[in-house]
Amino acid sequence: MEKKYHIVTYGCQMNVHESEKLAGILRSRGYAETSSKEEADIVVFNTCCIRENAENHAYGNIGALKKLKKARPAMLIAVGGCMTQQPGAAERLRKKFPFVDIVFGTHNLEEFGALLDRKIGRKKAVIDIWDKEGEVREDDISFRTSYPNAWVNIMYGCNNFCSYCIVPYVRGRERSRAAEAVVAEVNDLLDRGYKEITLLGQNVNSYGNDCGEVSFPQLLRKICARDEKFRLRFMTSNPKDFGEELVRAIADHRQLCHLIHLPVQAGSDRILRLMNRKYTAREYLQKVEMLRRIIPDCQLSTDIMVGFPTETEEDFRATLELVRAADFSAAFTFVYSRRSGTVAADMEGQIPEEVQKERIMRLVELVNAQTREKSLSYRGKTVEILCEDYDDKKRLYMGRDEYGRMGYFTSEQNRIGNFVDIHVTDSSGISLMGEIVAKE
Ligand code: 5AD
Ligand code: SF4
Repeated sequence: MEKKYHIVTYGCQMNVHESEKLAGILRSRGYAETSSKEEADIVVFNTCCIRENAENHAYGNIGALKKLKKARPAMLIAVGGCMTQQPGAAERLRKKFPFVDIVFGTHNLEEFGALLDRKIGRKKAVIDIWDKEGEVREDDISFRTSYPNAWVNIMYGCNNFCSYCIVPYVRGRERSRAAEAVVAEVNDLLDRGYKEITLLGQNVNSYGNDCGEVSFPQLLRKICARDEKFRLRFMTSNPKDFGEELVRAIADHRQLCHLIHLPVQAGSDRILRLMNRKYTAREYLQKVEMLRRIIPDCQLSTDIMVGFPTETEEDFRATLELVRAADFSAAFTFVYSRRSGTVAADMEGQIPEEVQKERIMRLVELVNAQTREKSLSYRGKTVEILCEDYDDKKRLYMGRDEYGRMGYFTSEQNRIGNFVDIHVTDSSGISLMGEIVAKE
């Protein structure tokens, strides 16, 4: 009988793609996917540690497997990713959950197959966390699960050390992939019919800084030289390095979506300084202005954090002010979470939870109002949706427009992987409802 794997992913797009790599490794060893942990021969947890709740979530789910492991001792449990990469985390994990079989980190995720081979036929757990970055792998080992969308890493790690952020500690220094390798991977995906490619890096604007040949805007131009219809996105762009050369590249190539994710984090200059973000609110807004001057229909999404150490009501109001001024179409909002080992974790003036909660509620209210308003402006318009999936519950096809807005529609035919024009009939929620007016 075929062996089965089940992967649980926490955190960001980067992790989702890394789980595709883990899936590729498992498939190359004869495992097939199962959606049920009960049926799995191996359960892999690909963890995140960016906020405390992501860690608690993973801990809770790993703990919940204790019974199953007792009933089926042959089932393997592996835990890897950002959480285990933190100093001392692997030991803590093993102490709390001695039934875990394999522990690996971020730097050796692509070596998971070798760890699995080592574990099979051996009683003792295999624990292997590297403290240094591994070689950048160029072969695409992913088993992709999100056709017609695909993710492509262009770089790994982060050099910015924003004072709240654990990422530079668990993902190491910036390493860019060779431009030819990125272009070849994208071309291969397009040859295979993928229609939307998202380039991934913690700070895509510093792509190439470590190898010096091709800058990020040049990389985008190389990819877009393939003159056919597809969508190209990238995340994440750090505002400090976001410049006109990049905006010109977006303006010149229609494959590049007119939605830019530009995390602002806060609107108070004092807090931005404490966060080590290296820009002021004014500089941020000037970049937004430049972007909208060159690409008038360009929309913006962002990440915002509340309750950073020492944040006052006045600082928080500056964030609300900036949210109004920048007119974001979407914002991911977070309560600051104290991450041990970061500079902010040791700052005086940590903000009480009640204050953080009250602020996040006010922020979410403002952001939702802006998103709803933007949605309403869609009514009666025709938008192009790249159909991604069929929603069994709603019995509707779904996809996104280039601005990332979700749209639903009915169709007799399977539209997955097609660009479809829909006439928007309802846009009262955050997503759009429409009827097909034309097809690819
Ligand atoms: N607490 C809360 N949010 C955080 N982020 C990063 N670190 C923290 C933290 N310690 C948020 C930032 C970042 C997004 C990916 O996660 O807003 O842009
Ligand atoms: Fe974290 Fe800042 Fe790097 Fe983003 S740019 S991963 S927030 S340190």
